[in-house]
This record gives sequence, C-alpha cells and structure tokens, in this order.
Amino acid sequence: MQEWVYLADVSELARRKKKRVEAGGRSIALFYIDGDVYALHDVCVHKQRSLSKGTVLQGRIVCPGHQWRFDPATGAADDQPLCQPTYDVRVEDGRVYVNPLRPRRAPGSAPDVRGGDRACSPTSS
Ligand code: FES
Repeated sequence: MQEWVYLADVSELARRKKKRVEAGGRSIALFYIDGDVYALHDVCVHKQRSLSKGTVLQGRIVCPGHQWRFDPATGAADDQPLCQPTYDVRVEDGRVYVNPLRPRRAPGSAPDVRGGDRACSPTSS
C-alpha cells in the first residue's frame, strides 16, 4: 500500500509559498508558512474552491471562495462548523513527503450528520 509520497522540495515551497499537487487520487494543497510545511485537501469543504489559489494571512489559509480562514495545522475553520482535512507531512533532506491516504480530522470537530468523518474527509478531488 502506498504511503509517504514525495511531493515537492522545501526550497521550491519556500519560494512559491504554495503548490497544488496530486497524490493518491487526491488534490493536495501544500503551503509554506513561517518555515513549516502544511498539507491540506485542496478542495474546500465549503463550496469546493481550490485552497491552493487562496492566500495566507496572519498564519491562516484564506479560501478564495468565501474567505473562510483555516488553521493550516488542524484544518479547523475560524467561526465555522466544518474543517478542512489535513495530511501528515514529513520533511527529509529538504524533500517534502505526504501520506495522502490518511487525512486527519481536526481535534474537536463534529462528525457530519450523515455519519462518519465527512465533516473532515475529502469529498471528491
Ligand atoms: S468555497 Fe471555500 S470558503 Fe467557500
């Protein structure tokens, strides 16, 4: 089973600040914020806009759709009930690896009313 996937070099992310990549059948947005690399599902949980086309403001990822602000580490949205799925990131020798098969759920986020973890699981990519 595929697990950690090389997706970018840290030097490239430090220069570009963000990048959309495909891995494990999912679209993933990589962000470089204050020296750390974060990976979130690229398709916004609100109305499916691309987070990688958003901006970073005061340490938060701002979606270009309706300006929801997401914590890059947990995916939790400020003042919203939904959270954006995130992925574990591993950096080795300046290379960024992500495990696309194991999205995480923000601590304290409530399961979707349809059951399971849909509130923080990727929909479609
Ligand atoms: S689509 Fe992201 S906030 Fe609406």
